[in-house]
Amino acid sequence: MTARMLRLYPGKPEEIALPGTYLAHRLHERGSAAAPFVYASFVGSLDGRIALRDPATGESRLPAGLVSGNDFRLFLELQAQADCLVTHGGYLRDLAAGRLDDVLQVGTQEATRELAQWRADNGLPPQPAVVVASASLEFSMPDSPARHGQRVLIATGGGAPPDRVARWRAAGYEVLIAGTGMSVEGGPLVRELGNMGFRSLYLLTGPRMLDTMVRDRRLSRLYLTTAHRLLGGESFHSMLSGPELGDAGRLRLCALHYDASAPDGTGQFFAHFEPQPA
Ligand SMILES: NC(=O)c1ccc[n+]([C@@H]2O[C@H](COP(=O)([O-])OP(=O)(O)OC[C@H]3O[C@@H](n4cnc5c(N)ncnc54)[C@H](OP(=O)(O)O)[C@@H]3O)[C@@H](O)[C@H]2O)c1
Repeated sequence: MTARMLRLYPGKPEEIALPGTYLAHRLHERGSAAAPFVYASFVGSLDGRIALRDPATGESRLPAGLVSGNDFRLFLELQAQADCLVTHGGYLRDLAAGRLDDVLQVGTQEATRELAQWRADNGLPPQPAVVVASASLEFSMPDSPARHGQRVLIATGGGAPPDRVARWRAAGYEVLIAGTGMSVEGGPLVRELGNMGFRSLYLLTGPRMLDTMVRDRRLSRLYLTTAHRLLGGESFHSMLSGPELGDAGRLRLCALHYDASAPDGTGQFFAHFEPQPA
């Protein structure tokens, strides 16, 4: 049975089909070389947790109570509209350790073939390019991007260790210097990727990348799923790190949907926001 949800805003409340809702946003058509469309998504609890950290080991995990098939479907729809996925060293280390699944390709499972077809029908290449942001440059590259013919770039700051930059270049990877410190900065990264012809950049990253993109006013849209539960936990991540944001953190609600069925029989809001012009 097709999952359904209630659109609460804008307009009068209306029940609609969940699949296709985010594909209808046509994110791949919203950007240009001068201003690529940069979007991020998070799923969090009502008490603002996006991940819990094990106090003993320091390892972080996505609690089962935040996960649902309906949210994952909308995540896949966001991923399908990207011509470039931005991930990071932390994710590749988690992938290598078997802590997270590989989400660097679109439509490779039987259940998601229609998304591969959607890309073809909409003039997108079969797979998005992949950018790995890392300050340490200490991660191992999974083989899935090469198997699927994806262009892979590594982004780092100008202060990155030169021997590690040289090592990745020697291994055949393009290394972008985006920022003057150790970390990748939002402004230079988006400018470089725009110059390379990318128009829709999906941030499969976390609190640090969101911080620099918002601070540099490069984030075009934020998708936020809020699971209707309180998680607690003394050590946790929220969606943002870094000092106070000030006016760059002002957002405006574009749409709000209510899914009463998931996760785990509670409910969740699907919202998306855009930065409020200064
Ligand atoms: N619920 C959700 O929606 C959601 C979404 C995202 C993440 N999470 C979870 O939240 C936890 C924390 O997220 P995270 O791992 O993404 O934390 P993070 O501290 O934002 O990033 C982790 C690593 O990514 C690299 N990185 C990030 N931004 C960078 C930048 N601007 N420049 C250079 N390198 C950068 C660094 O790698 P190097 O050490 O290689 O330099 C950094 O150590 C994780 O457990 C994650 O799985 C949950």
